[in-house]
Amino acid sequence: MPIYHTLGQVPAKRHTIFDKPDGGIYYEQLFGTVGFDGMSSLLYQVHRPTQVRQIREPKNVLPKIAVEKNITARLLKGFEVPPAKDWLESRHPLLINKDIHVGLAAPTDSLTGYFYKNADADEMIFVHRGSGTLRTFLGHIQFEPGDYLIIPRGMIYQVDFDTKDNRLLYAESFHPIYTPKRYRNWFGQLLEHSPYCERDYNLPRNLETHDEQGDFIMKIKKQGMLHELVYATHPFDVVGWDGYNFPYGFSIHNFEPITGRVHQPPPVHQTFETKAFVVCSFCPRLYDYHPRSIPAPYNHSNIDSDEVLYYVDGDFMSRNNIEQGHITLHPAGIPHGPAPGAYERSIGQTETQELAVMIDTFAPLMVTEQAIALDDGKYYQSWLEP
Ligand SMILES: [Fe+2]
Repeated sequence: MPIYHTLGQVPAKRHTIFDKPDGGIYYEQLFGTVGFDGMSSLLYQVHRPTQVRQIREPKNVLPKIAVEKNITARLLKGFEVPPAKDWLESRHPLLINKDIHVGLAAPTDSLTGYFYKNADADEMIFVHRGSGTLRTFLGHIQFEPGDYLIIPRGMIYQVDFDTKDNRLLYAESFHPIYTPKRYRNWFGQLLEHSPYCERDYNLPRNLETHDEQGDFIMKIKKQGMLHELVYATHPFDVVGWDGYNFPYGFSIHNFEPITGRVHQPPPVHQTFETKAFVVCSFCPRLYDYHPRSIPAPYNHSNIDSDEVLYYVDGDFMSRNNIEQGHITLHPAGIPHGPAPGAYERSIGQTETQELAVMIDTFAPLMVTEQAIALDDGKYYQSWLEP
């Protein structure tokens, strides 16, 4: 997150003695990314964060691939993902490559029995249904439907849900997730043409500090394995931190759509970027205002990127028979476009209420066994004349 934030107490000068009020000193930890070249934060902790008591047997959680080389457009019925109690077991990885795992989850219970850290990937969680609090060792982020939660790799967290009916789209990104560079000036400040600004970020608050010793289970995802470590001190023991590396929230409802006289291309909807994929938000907006404009998109050949669309709410103007929670995959190599009739139907329309999240990957996606279980099997023929 290219802005500075601080919570709790930090010493006036970095790398200097920071006295505890009752004797002893706090322990400093540099939490960095991309070696020492990316964004980082400096943390001050009650205990040394290195006190591993036990390492238990790891579990292989690599997704099982059903289709490695895919050219089939697919429709996945996302709400058929069964709810599950556990935060991690609720996750269904669906479309994956070496850069990203895209999945859906319907966790019914809060994550309180263990602490979780994804050591490999930044996580982007889009909250379709449900509300609660993401509790991290760098503070709390409250969330509600429409929120993106960006959790940089290594952040230790738990989750409190206020709700049972929770539906999440998630992406594990093996590259850092940033705001698009073209939205920022050379200092990192978001420019006036950016569809959102710093004020729209939901930054961590309410630092939770525990001075506790005991057995604290931490599940760590690394290299496709879920490791289970027992720590001797409470992982939430930060008394203060500052820097640029921290989790944050951003509501899709704060994305201000960019519209034009004729159809605007997908990059106007871009919300996040990485080296290997982009994330776009399709939000309710006024349609094109040229008197002869066609608001529906033209057919397009995303010849070298796979397109994943997750449908959240509203009417999905370019598609037929699409419901909330559906995912469509439009693979690289072949064109796709509006469903039969949608192109003509859009003429003269003045606005859309559609709400959708799009993930375009630059490398092809493989289809998992869990995705095949949700696949309607006939979407690829949906462009045929009726
Ligand atoms: Fe498309």
